Amino acid sequence: MKKIVLREDQMPTSWYNVGPDIPGGLHPPLDPETKEPMAPEKLAQVFPMGLLEQEMSPERFIKIPDEVMEVYKIWRPSPLVRAYKLEQALGTKAKIFFKNEGVSPVGSHKPNSAVPQAYYNKIEGVKRLATETGAGQWGSALSMATSKFGLECKVFMVRCSYDQKPYRKSIMHTFGADIVASPSNDTETGRAVLAKDPNTPGSLGIAISEALEDAASREDTNYALGSVLNHVILHQSIIGLEAKKQMEIAGEYPDVVVGCCGGGSNFAGLMGPFVPDYLDGKKIKFVGYEPASCPSMTAGKLAYDAGDVAMRTPLLYMHTLGHDFMPPGIHAGGLRYHGMAPIVSALIRDDIIEPKSVHQLECFEAGVLFARTEGIIPAPETTHAIRGAIIEAMKDPDEPKTILFNFSGHGLIDMAAYDAYFNGELHDYAYPTEAIAESLAKLPEID
Ligand SMILES: Cc1ncc(COP(=O)(O)O)c(C=O)c1O
Repeated sequence: MKKIVLREDQMPTSWYNVGPDIPGGLHPPLDPETKEPMAPEKLAQVFPMGLLEQEMSPERFIKIPDEVMEVYKIWRPSPLVRAYKLEQALGTKAKIFFKNEGVSPVGSHKPNSAVPQAYYNKIEGVKRLATETGAGQWGSALSMATSKFGLECKVFMVRCSYDQKPYRKSIMHTFGADIVASPSNDTETGRAVLAKDPNTPGSLGIAISEALEDAASREDTNYALGSVLNHVILHQSIIGLEAKKQMEIAGEYPDVVVGCCGGGSNFAGLMGPFVPDYLDGKKIKFVGYEPASCPSMTAGKLAYDAGDVAMRTPLLYMHTLGHDFMPPGIHAGGLRYHGMAPIVSALIRDDIIEPKSVHQLECFEAGVLFARTEGIIPAPETTHAIRGAIIEAMKDPDEPKTILFNFSGHGLIDMAAYDAYFNGELHDYAYPTEAIAESLAKLPEID
């Protein structure tokens, strides 16, 4: 069987919350001013209660609202596909499966969380959402989701992606969103950054500060984040829950689960639902791949840090390169983030996730091989997962293991990056030792 497709009535009806199953537990978010655990009322200034409850929930399963299921069914359940041609090209005995999240309306896993986030804001009377976007995938997803629920949407898009990916802007416009390049002149944070460096490529950390400032300055507006937070990973668990059923139908079980990691949501969404089996003694390896030029998991520190440059977010206990780390302008814009989800960070601490890093050129090479064998062009972010799956398959090509990876998005709006690759204009960035040391020196001090 090439691909395993579930019927709509086989879709999971609840999300799975991996938080309560993490052996060493999760640290609470702290108030950046008092350094005490964050009061929910303060978070409620920019998030709806429905999402805050999920953020802190001790429940392992949370029902997916019918209205969300209805929108999910535009593209879900997503197919699980066996990459036979890739296996043949590699000459490996490994079986390689991928969960194709590129089939969503905007081409990535991001709508899995954008839709419930728009829904919970809508039912609590919010009229407008402000957000940031790196590669433009999250902004596109939230624009689509807000249009489904009749909300306005303002997107702060990281400058280098804004310039590299004009069609992401077109997608957001089509769904009715208002988009501006970040840093922008629309916020105090943006103006301050531009005054220091008018040619900055921007970063997710800056764009988050701008979106939060926008949300905090308006009564009618809440903030939405596309990764990192517990509730985002909860929503993304639909990927792993479906994949588990599909692997069962295929008569297989993964020995290795692989994903690319930006803020950690697509990888945690796929691997999370396999964690209870791991804790029950099942032999399964979880490997997350990040860019070598933005190595929060492999070179960052596990510490409390802010999620944004202006330190407006709660302090999260996570692997971080420092909140003002400016990652090099690699083409996988969605992986250019200084922090890693607290859930993923805790699973690394507990030796459940193995973190690895890869360079951009070897990822594009893997992406091209995948396109030519499997017929789908991956997003630059997703090429990190493909490179990861190939590394796992080729460790011992004669070992008949089963690998499952998350195909987090297609690359049809990222063709400028492929052009640059084919023209020899892309290069690998050296590991930014000094920049990391400098920004880690500015971590907030917590007793
Ligand atoms: C296609 C794709 N994959 C992966 C990511 C990384 O995000 P996360 O680690 O939260 O899944 C992004 C982020 O924009 C993305 O667009």
